[in-house]
Amino acid sequence: MSGVFISILSVILLNLLLPSSWKAFSVELIFAALLWYLFIQESLESKIFKLHKNFGMTFNIIAVVSILTTALSIYQFGNAFSTIYLFTSLIILLFNENTAKNLGFFLSIVMFIHFQEDVWIFLYGALMTLIVVKTLKTVYRRIDVVKSASIAAIVGVIFVLLKWILTGTIGKFEVLLIAANPFISSVIVLGILPYIEYTSRVYSNIGLMELGNLNHPLLKLLSMRAPGTYQHSSMVANLAEAAAEKIGANSLLARVSAYYHDIGKIKRPAFFVENQFGIENPHNNISPYLSHLILDEHVKYGLHLAKKNRLPILIEHVIAEHHGTRIQKYFYEKARELNPSVSEDDFRYPGPKPQFKESGIIMLADSVEAVSRTFKGKKSPAQIQAAVEETVMGIFTERQLENSGLTLEDIELLIEEFTRVVTSFYHKRIEYPKKEEEGIINGDNKSDKL
Ligand SMILES: [Fe+2]
Ligand SMILES: [Fe+2]
Repeated sequence: MSGVFISILSVILLNLLLPSSWKAFSVELIFAALLWYLFIQESLESKIFKLHKNFGMTFNIIAVVSILTTALSIYQFGNAFSTIYLFTSLIILLFNENTAKNLGFFLSIVMFIHFQEDVWIFLYGALMTLIVVKTLKTVYRRIDVVKSASIAAIVGVIFVLLKWILTGTIGKFEVLLIAANPFISSVIVLGILPYIEYTSRVYSNIGLMELGNLNHPLLKLLSMRAPGTYQHSSMVANLAEAAAEKIGANSLLARVSAYYHDIGKIKRPAFFVENQFGIENPHNNISPYLSHLILDEHVKYGLHLAKKNRLPILIEHVIAEHHGTRIQKYFYEKARELNPSVSEDDFRYPGPKPQFKESGIIMLADSVEAVSRTFKGKKSPAQIQAAVEETVMGIFTERQLENSGLTLEDIELLIEEFTRVVTSFYHKRIEYPKKEEEGIINGDNKSDKL
Protein backbone atom coordinates (compact mmCIF):
# COMPACT_ATOMS: atom_id res chain seq x y z
CA MET A 1 0.00 0.00 0.00
CA SER A 2 2.84 2.39 0.82
CA GLY A 3 4.09 1.89 -2.75
CA VAL A 4 0.83 3.19 -4.22
CA PHE A 5 1.10 6.20 -1.91
CA ILE A 6 4.66 6.76 -3.14
CA SER A 7 3.61 6.70 -6.81
CA ILE A 8 0.75 9.16 -6.09
CA LEU A 9 3.14 11.44 -4.21
CA SER A 10 5.60 11.35 -7.13
CA VAL A 11 2.89 12.26 -9.63
CA ILE A 12 1.69 15.15 -7.41
CA LEU A 13 5.26 16.46 -7.22
CA LEU A 14 5.66 15.97 -10.95
CA ASN A 15 2.55 18.01 -11.70
CA LEU A 16 3.65 20.76 -9.36
CA LEU A 17 6.95 20.93 -11.20
CA LEU A 18 5.63 20.68 -14.75
CA PRO A 19 2.65 22.45 -16.35
CA SER A 20 -0.44 20.23 -16.66
CA SER A 21 -4.24 20.51 -16.62
CA TRP A 22 -6.26 19.29 -13.61
CA LYS A 23 -7.99 16.68 -15.77
CA ALA A 24 -4.73 15.20 -17.00
CA PHE A 25 -3.40 15.37 -13.47
CA SER A 26 -6.26 13.31 -11.97
CA VAL A 27 -6.13 10.71 -14.77
CA GLU A 28 -2.41 10.38 -14.21
CA LEU A 29 -2.88 9.90 -10.49
CA ILE A 30 -5.33 7.04 -10.97
CA PHE A 31 -3.12 5.39 -13.57
CA ALA A 32 0.03 5.76 -11.49
CA ALA A 33 -1.63 4.04 -8.51
CA LEU A 34 -3.05 1.29 -10.71
CA LEU A 35 0.21 0.72 -12.58
CA TRP A 36 2.17 0.55 -9.33
CA TYR A 37 -0.10 -2.23 -8.21
CA LEU A 38 0.20 -4.03 -11.55
CA PHE A 39 3.95 -3.75 -12.03
CA ILE A 40 5.75 -2.87 -8.82
CA GLN A 41 3.79 -4.43 -5.97
CA GLU A 42 4.53 -7.94 -7.21
CA SER A 43 8.30 -7.27 -7.08
CA LEU A 44 8.09 -5.83 -3.60
CA GLU A 45 6.45 -9.01 -2.36
CA SER A 46 9.43 -11.14 -3.35
CA LYS A 47 11.58 -12.69 -0.64
CA ILE A 48 14.49 -10.25 -0.76
CA PHE A 49 12.29 -7.27 0.17
CA LYS A 50 11.04 -9.10 3.24
CA LEU A 51 14.54 -9.73 4.59
CA HIS A 52 15.22 -6.15 5.64
CA LYS A 53 13.46 -2.79 5.40
CA ASN A 54 16.48 -1.26 3.63
CA PHE A 55 15.68 -3.15 0.41
CA GLY A 56 12.17 -1.66 0.14
CA MET A 57 13.33 1.78 1.27
CA THR A 58 16.18 1.90 -1.27
CA PHE A 59 13.87 0.76 -4.06
CA ASN A 60 11.13 3.29 -3.16
CA ILE A 61 13.58 6.21 -3.04
CA ILE A 62 15.03 5.25 -6.45
CA ALA A 63 11.49 4.81 -7.85
CA VAL A 64 10.36 8.30 -6.72
CA VAL A 65 13.55 9.92 -8.05
CA SER A 66 13.17 7.98 -11.32
CA ILE A 67 9.60 9.24 -11.93
CA LEU A 68 10.59 12.86 -11.30
CA THR A 69 13.92 12.77 -13.13
CA THR A 70 12.60 10.94 -16.20
CA ALA A 71 9.68 13.34 -16.62
CA LEU A 72 11.87 16.42 -16.09
CA SER A 73 14.55 15.20 -18.51
CA ILE A 74 12.00 14.36 -21.22
CA TYR A 75 10.29 17.74 -20.67
CA GLN A 76 13.57 19.63 -20.82
CA PHE A 77 15.58 17.77 -23.51
CA GLY A 78 13.06 15.50 -25.27
CA ASN A 79 12.59 11.73 -25.39
CA ALA A 80 16.21 11.18 -26.44
CA PHE A 81 17.26 12.15 -22.95
CA SER A 82 14.81 9.94 -21.07
CA THR A 83 16.49 8.47 -17.96
CA ILE A 84 14.66 5.13 -18.08
CA TYR A 85 17.88 3.32 -19.12
CA LEU A 86 19.72 4.87 -16.16
CA PHE A 87 17.21 3.86 -13.51
CA THR A 88 16.47 0.37 -14.80
CA SER A 89 20.26 -0.25 -14.91
CA LEU A 90 20.57 0.90 -11.31
CA ILE A 91 17.70 -1.34 -10.19
CA ILE A 92 18.93 -4.45 -12.03
CA LEU A 93 22.41 -4.05 -10.51
CA LEU A 94 21.09 -3.56 -6.97
CA PHE A 95 18.09 -5.91 -7.06
CA ASN A 96 17.13 -8.28 -9.85
CA GLU A 97 15.91 -8.66 -13.40
CA ASN A 98 12.23 -8.82 -12.55
CA THR A 99 12.21 -5.66 -10.42
CA ALA A 100 14.11 -3.74 -13.14
CA LYS A 101 11.72 -4.94 -15.84
CA ASN A 102 8.69 -3.93 -13.79
CA LEU A 103 10.06 -0.47 -12.96
CA GLY A 104 11.05 0.09 -16.62
CA PHE A 105 7.55 -0.69 -17.93
CA PHE A 106 5.92 1.27 -15.10
CA LEU A 107 8.01 4.34 -16.00
CA SER A 108 7.38 3.92 -19.75
CA ILE A 109 3.59 3.87 -19.29
CA VAL A 110 3.52 6.71 -16.71
CA MET A 111 5.60 8.89 -19.11
CA PHE A 112 3.38 7.88 -22.03
CA ILE A 113 0.34 9.14 -20.06
CA HIS A 114 2.07 12.25 -18.76
CA PHE A 115 3.27 13.39 -22.18
CA GLN A 116 -0.10 13.26 -23.99
CA GLU A 117 0.02 9.63 -25.05
CA ASP A 118 3.20 9.97 -27.08
CA VAL A 119 3.73 6.39 -28.25
CA TRP A 120 7.44 7.02 -29.08
CA ILE A 121 8.11 7.79 -25.43
CA PHE A 122 6.59 4.46 -24.42
CA LEU A 123 8.44 2.57 -27.17
CA TYR A 124 11.84 4.03 -26.32
CA GLY A 125 11.33 3.35 -22.60
CA ALA A 126 10.22 -0.24 -23.24
CA LEU A 127 13.12 -0.82 -25.65
CA MET A 128 15.70 0.46 -23.14
CA THR A 129 14.13 -1.70 -20.41
CA LEU A 130 14.46 -4.80 -22.59
CA ILE A 131 18.10 -3.99 -23.39
CA VAL A 132 18.88 -3.57 -19.68
CA VAL A 133 17.18 -6.87 -18.81
CA LYS A 134 19.05 -8.72 -21.58
CA THR A 135 22.49 -7.17 -21.14
CA LEU A 136 22.83 -6.54 -17.41
CA LYS A 137 21.33 -9.75 -16.03
CA THR A 138 24.63 -10.95 -14.60
CA VAL A 139 27.25 -8.26 -14.13
CA TYR A 140 30.55 -8.94 -12.43
CA ARG A 141 32.72 -6.26 -13.99
CA ARG A 142 32.26 -2.56 -14.72
CA ILE A 143 33.10 -3.19 -18.38
CA ASP A 144 29.81 -5.17 -18.67
CA VAL A 145 27.96 -1.91 -17.97
CA VAL A 146 29.93 -0.14 -20.72
CA LYS A 147 29.12 -2.95 -23.20
CA SER A 148 25.43 -2.63 -22.36
CA ALA A 149 25.60 1.16 -22.89
CA SER A 150 27.15 0.63 -26.34
CA ILE A 151 24.30 -1.69 -27.38
CA ALA A 152 21.71 0.76 -26.00
CA ALA A 153 23.35 3.62 -27.94
CA ILE A 154 23.27 1.71 -31.25
CA VAL A 155 19.65 0.62 -30.72
CA GLY A 156 18.75 4.21 -29.74
CA VAL A 157 20.20 5.60 -32.99
CA ILE A 158 18.31 2.98 -35.06
CA PHE A 159 15.15 3.89 -33.12
CA VAL A 160 15.48 7.62 -33.95
CA LEU A 161 16.20 6.91 -37.62
CA LEU A 162 13.16 4.61 -37.87
CA LYS A 163 11.01 7.25 -36.21
CA TRP A 164 12.33 9.78 -38.74
CA ILE A 165 11.46 7.49 -41.67
CA LEU A 166 7.98 6.80 -40.30
CA THR A 167 7.00 10.28 -39.08
CA GLY A 168 9.30 12.55 -41.06
CA THR A 169 10.30 14.41 -37.89
CA ILE A 170 13.63 14.47 -36.10
CA GLY A 171 14.76 16.76 -33.30
CA LYS A 172 17.86 18.94 -33.34
CA PHE A 173 20.84 16.83 -32.18
CA GLU A 174 18.40 13.94 -31.48
CA VAL A 175 20.75 11.28 -32.90
CA LEU A 176 23.64 12.64 -30.88
CA LEU A 177 21.61 12.88 -27.68
CA ILE A 178 20.15 9.39 -27.95
CA ALA A 179 23.62 7.93 -28.60
CA ALA A 180 25.16 9.81 -25.66
CA ASN A 181 22.32 8.99 -23.24
CA PRO A 182 23.32 5.39 -22.27
CA PHE A 183 27.02 6.32 -21.93
CA ILE A 184 26.26 9.27 -19.63
CA SER A 185 23.83 7.01 -17.74
CA SER A 186 26.45 4.29 -17.25
CA VAL A 187 28.97 6.83 -15.89
CA ILE A 188 26.33 8.08 -13.42
CA VAL A 189 25.32 4.52 -12.43
CA LEU A 190 28.91 3.42 -11.78
CA GLY A 191 29.66 6.66 -9.93
CA ILE A 192 26.60 6.55 -7.70
CA LEU A 193 26.68 2.80 -6.84
CA PRO A 194 29.27 3.03 -4.01
CA TYR A 195 27.26 5.79 -2.32
CA ILE A 196 24.03 3.76 -2.47
CA GLU A 197 25.84 0.60 -1.33
CA TYR A 198 27.49 2.30 1.63
CA THR A 199 24.37 4.08 2.86
CA SER A 200 21.80 1.32 2.22
CA ARG A 201 24.01 -1.78 2.55
CA VAL A 202 22.19 -3.11 -0.53
CA TYR A 203 25.08 -4.24 -2.74
CA SER A 204 25.44 -4.85 -6.45
CA ASN A 205 27.68 -7.64 -7.74
CA ILE A 206 30.29 -4.97 -8.56
CA GLY A 207 30.35 -3.92 -4.88
CA LEU A 208 30.47 -7.56 -3.78
CA MET A 209 33.52 -8.13 -6.01
CA GLU A 210 35.39 -5.48 -4.04
CA LEU A 211 34.44 -7.10 -0.74
CA GLY A 212 35.66 -10.43 -2.13
CA ASN A 213 39.12 -8.93 -2.51
CA LEU A 214 41.29 -10.67 0.06
CA ASN A 215 43.01 -7.35 0.82
CA HIS A 216 39.91 -6.13 2.65
CA PRO A 217 41.05 -4.98 6.14
CA LEU A 218 38.66 -7.38 7.93
CA LEU A 219 39.92 -10.39 5.96
CA LYS A 220 43.52 -9.35 6.54
CA LEU A 221 42.80 -9.17 10.25
CA LEU A 222 41.19 -12.62 10.10
CA SER A 223 44.23 -14.06 8.33
CA MET A 224 46.56 -12.65 10.99
CA ARG A 225 44.55 -13.35 14.16
CA ALA A 226 42.81 -16.58 13.12
CA PRO A 227 44.76 -18.18 10.24
CA GLY A 228 42.95 -21.50 10.67
CA THR A 229 39.56 -19.83 10.35
CA TYR A 230 40.82 -17.91 7.32
CA GLN A 231 41.83 -21.20 5.69
CA HIS A 232 38.48 -22.77 6.63
CA SER A 233 36.55 -19.77 5.20
CA SER A 234 38.47 -19.98 1.90
CA MET A 235 37.56 -23.64 1.53
CA VAL A 236 33.90 -22.94 2.45
CA ALA A 237 34.00 -20.21 -0.24
CA ASN A 238 35.21 -22.72 -2.88
CA LEU A 239 32.49 -25.18 -1.94
CA ALA A 240 29.72 -22.57 -1.70
CA GLU A 241 30.64 -20.86 -4.97
CA ALA A 242 30.61 -24.10 -6.97
CA ALA A 243 27.40 -25.26 -5.28
CA ALA A 244 25.58 -21.96 -5.88
CA GLU A 245 26.57 -22.02 -9.52
CA LYS A 246 25.28 -25.56 -9.87
CA ILE A 247 21.75 -24.63 -8.74
CA GLY A 248 21.64 -21.20 -10.42
CA ALA A 249 21.96 -19.17 -7.18
CA ASN A 250 24.26 -16.12 -6.87
CA SER A 251 27.72 -17.73 -6.77
CA LEU A 252 29.48 -14.42 -6.08
CA LEU A 253 27.27 -13.71 -3.07
CA ALA A 254 27.92 -17.26 -1.82
CA ARG A 255 31.70 -16.91 -2.18
CA VAL A 256 31.98 -13.47 -0.56
CA SER A 257 29.58 -14.38 2.28
CA ALA A 258 31.69 -17.44 3.00
CA TYR A 259 34.80 -15.28 3.46
CA TYR A 260 33.04 -13.30 6.20
CA HIS A 261 30.76 -15.93 7.79
CA ASP A 262 33.11 -16.63 10.75
CA ILE A 263 34.60 -13.14 10.98
CA GLY A 264 33.49 -12.96 14.65
CA LYS A 265 36.17 -15.54 15.51
CA ILE A 266 38.83 -12.82 15.43
CA LYS A 267 37.77 -11.98 19.00
CA ARG A 268 38.76 -15.29 20.67
CA PRO A 269 40.44 -17.34 17.92
CA ALA A 270 42.09 -19.83 20.28
CA PHE A 271 38.67 -21.19 21.33
CA PHE A 272 38.11 -22.60 17.85
CA VAL A 273 39.79 -25.85 16.91
CA GLU A 274 41.11 -24.74 13.54
CA ASN A 275 43.30 -22.13 15.28
CA GLN A 276 44.70 -24.39 17.99
CA PHE A 277 48.13 -25.03 16.55
CA GLY A 278 49.99 -26.91 19.26
CA ILE A 279 48.28 -25.14 22.16
CA GLU A 280 46.10 -26.61 24.86
CA ASN A 281 42.38 -26.46 24.16
CA PRO A 282 41.13 -23.64 26.45
CA HIS A 283 37.67 -25.28 26.62
CA ASN A 284 39.20 -28.03 28.79
CA ASN A 285 39.43 -25.61 31.69
CA ILE A 286 35.99 -23.97 31.52
CA SER A 287 32.40 -25.15 32.00
CA PRO A 288 30.39 -26.30 28.95
CA TYR A 289 27.96 -23.43 29.64
CA LEU A 290 30.75 -20.90 29.24
CA SER A 291 31.98 -22.71 26.10
CA HIS A 292 28.45 -22.42 24.70
CA LEU A 293 28.48 -18.66 25.33
CA ILE A 294 31.86 -18.31 23.62
CA LEU A 295 30.60 -20.19 20.55
CA ASP A 296 27.49 -18.00 20.42
CA GLU A 297 29.71 -14.96 20.72
CA HIS A 298 31.41 -15.58 17.35
CA VAL A 299 28.02 -15.04 15.69
CA LYS A 300 27.15 -11.98 17.79
CA TYR A 301 30.56 -10.36 17.37
CA GLY A 302 30.43 -11.13 13.63
CA LEU A 303 27.12 -9.26 13.40
CA HIS A 304 28.64 -6.34 15.28
CA LEU A 305 31.58 -6.23 12.82
CA ALA A 306 29.25 -6.51 9.82
CA LYS A 307 27.24 -3.50 10.99
CA LYS A 308 30.31 -1.49 11.97
CA ASN A 309 32.03 -2.11 8.62
CA ARG A 310 28.81 -1.61 6.62
CA LEU A 311 29.01 -5.06 5.05
CA PRO A 312 25.99 -5.99 2.88
CA ILE A 313 22.76 -6.83 4.71
CA LEU A 314 22.80 -10.24 3.02
CA ILE A 315 26.25 -11.03 4.48
CA GLU A 316 24.97 -9.98 7.92
CA HIS A 317 22.15 -12.49 7.41
CA VAL A 318 24.63 -15.23 6.50
CA ILE A 319 26.65 -14.52 9.66
CA ALA A 320 23.50 -14.77 11.81
CA GLU A 321 22.13 -17.83 10.01
CA HIS A 322 25.12 -20.03 9.22
CA HIS A 323 24.58 -22.20 12.32
CA GLY A 324 20.81 -21.72 12.28
CA THR A 325 19.31 -23.02 15.52
CA ARG A 326 21.56 -26.09 15.64
CA ILE A 327 22.64 -27.68 18.88
CA GLN A 328 26.27 -27.46 20.00
CA LYS A 329 26.28 -31.22 20.58
CA TYR A 330 29.78 -31.59 21.97
CA PHE A 331 29.16 -29.12 24.81
CA TYR A 332 25.60 -30.33 25.32
CA GLU A 333 26.90 -33.87 25.90
CA LYS A 334 29.61 -32.50 28.20
CA ALA A 335 26.96 -30.61 30.20
CA ARG A 336 24.74 -33.73 30.35
CA GLU A 337 27.53 -35.65 32.00
CA LEU A 338 27.42 -33.05 34.79
CA ASN A 339 23.64 -32.65 34.84
CA PRO A 340 21.53 -35.30 33.01
CA SER A 341 18.41 -33.10 33.00
CA VAL A 342 20.01 -30.28 30.98
CA SER A 343 17.90 -29.12 28.03
CA GLU A 344 19.09 -29.28 24.41
CA ASP A 345 17.61 -25.84 23.89
CA ASP A 346 20.15 -24.34 26.30
CA PHE A 347 22.86 -25.34 23.81
CA ARG A 348 21.35 -24.05 20.61
CA TYR A 349 22.73 -21.28 18.44
CA PRO A 350 20.39 -18.28 18.49
CA GLY A 351 19.56 -18.50 14.76
CA PRO A 352 17.52 -17.68 12.76
CA LYS A 353 17.55 -20.52 10.25
CA PRO A 354 18.83 -19.62 6.75
CA GLN A 355 16.35 -17.33 5.00
CA PHE A 356 17.59 -17.54 1.40
CA LYS A 357 19.33 -20.04 -0.86
CA GLU A 358 22.89 -18.71 -0.60
CA SER A 359 22.61 -18.64 3.19
CA GLY A 360 21.48 -22.28 3.23
CA ILE A 361 24.39 -23.19 0.96
CA ILE A 362 26.89 -21.59 3.40
CA MET A 363 25.42 -23.59 6.29
CA LEU A 364 25.89 -26.81 4.31
CA ALA A 365 29.35 -25.91 2.95
CA ASP A 366 30.49 -25.01 6.50
CA SER A 367 29.68 -28.50 7.79
CA VAL A 368 30.90 -30.29 4.65
CA GLU A 369 34.24 -28.49 5.00
CA ALA A 370 34.52 -29.59 8.62
CA VAL A 371 33.85 -33.22 7.71
CA SER A 372 36.24 -33.12 4.75
CA ARG A 373 39.14 -32.11 7.04
CA THR A 374 39.12 -35.59 8.54
CA PHE A 375 39.58 -37.46 5.26
CA LYS A 376 43.33 -36.93 4.87
CA GLY A 377 43.41 -38.71 1.56
CA LYS A 378 42.21 -41.99 3.01
CA LYS A 379 38.70 -42.01 1.60
CA SER A 380 37.51 -43.30 -1.75
CA PRO A 381 35.20 -41.09 -3.85
CA ALA A 382 32.26 -43.32 -2.84
CA GLN A 383 33.09 -42.88 0.85
CA ILE A 384 33.40 -39.12 0.36
CA GLN A 385 30.00 -39.03 -1.31
CA ALA A 386 28.46 -41.01 1.56
CA ALA A 387 29.98 -38.65 4.16
CA VAL A 388 28.85 -35.53 2.26
CA GLU A 389 25.37 -36.97 1.82
CA GLU A 390 25.08 -37.84 5.51
CA THR A 391 26.18 -34.34 6.54
CA VAL A 392 23.83 -32.53 4.16
CA MET A 393 20.83 -34.78 4.84
CA GLY A 394 21.47 -34.47 8.59
CA ILE A 395 21.00 -30.70 8.35
CA PHE A 396 18.05 -31.11 6.00
CA THR A 397 16.19 -33.49 8.32
CA GLU A 398 16.84 -31.15 11.25
CA ARG A 399 14.66 -28.75 9.20
CA GLN A 400 17.33 -26.07 9.30
CA LEU A 401 16.77 -25.35 5.60
CA GLU A 402 12.97 -25.02 5.69
CA ASN A 403 13.00 -21.23 5.13
CA SER A 404 15.93 -21.13 2.71
CA GLY A 405 13.99 -21.85 -0.48
CA LEU A 406 16.28 -24.82 -1.27
CA THR A 407 14.29 -27.69 -2.77
CA LEU A 408 15.03 -31.40 -2.49
CA GLU A 409 16.15 -31.26 -6.11
CA ASP A 410 18.61 -28.47 -5.18
CA ILE A 411 19.87 -30.57 -2.25
CA GLU A 412 20.65 -33.50 -4.56
CA LEU A 413 22.61 -31.23 -6.91
CA LEU A 414 24.44 -29.69 -3.94
CA ILE A 415 25.51 -33.12 -2.65
CA GLU A 416 26.83 -33.94 -6.13
CA GLU A 417 28.78 -30.69 -6.37
CA PHE A 418 30.15 -30.78 -2.80
CA THR A 419 31.37 -34.33 -3.45
CA ARG A 420 33.12 -33.25 -6.65
CA VAL A 421 34.85 -30.28 -5.00
CA VAL A 422 35.85 -32.21 -1.84
CA THR A 423 37.21 -35.11 -3.92
CA SER A 424 39.42 -32.72 -5.88
CA PHE A 425 40.62 -30.80 -2.80
CA TYR A 426 40.78 -32.91 0.32
CA HIS A 427 44.18 -34.44 -0.16
CA LYS A 428 45.79 -31.07 -0.71
CA ARG A 429 44.30 -29.55 2.43
CA ILE A 430 46.25 -28.45 5.48
CA GLU A 431 45.18 -30.79 8.24
CA TYR A 432 43.76 -29.50 11.49
CA PRO A 433 44.66 -30.94 14.91
CA LYS A 434 43.88 -34.61 15.39
CA LYS A 435 41.52 -34.11 18.34
CA GLU A 436 38.89 -32.64 16.08
CA GLU A 437 38.70 -35.74 13.94
CA GLU A 438 37.86 -37.75 17.03
CA GLY A 439 35.06 -35.41 17.98
CA ILE A 440 33.29 -35.33 14.64
CA ILE A 441 29.69 -36.43 14.80
CA ASN A 442 27.65 -36.20 11.64
CA GLY A 443 25.19 -33.33 11.58
CA ASP A 444 27.05 -31.35 14.23
CA ASN A 445 29.01 -28.24 13.44
CA LYS A 446 32.52 -29.46 13.63
CA SER A 447 34.35 -26.20 13.00
CA ASP A 448 33.14 -24.81 16.32
CA LYS A 449 33.20 -27.93 18.34
CA LEU A 450 36.25 -27.77 20.56
FE1 LIG B 1 30.68 -20.32 12.60
FE1 LIG C 1 32.56 -21.78 9.67
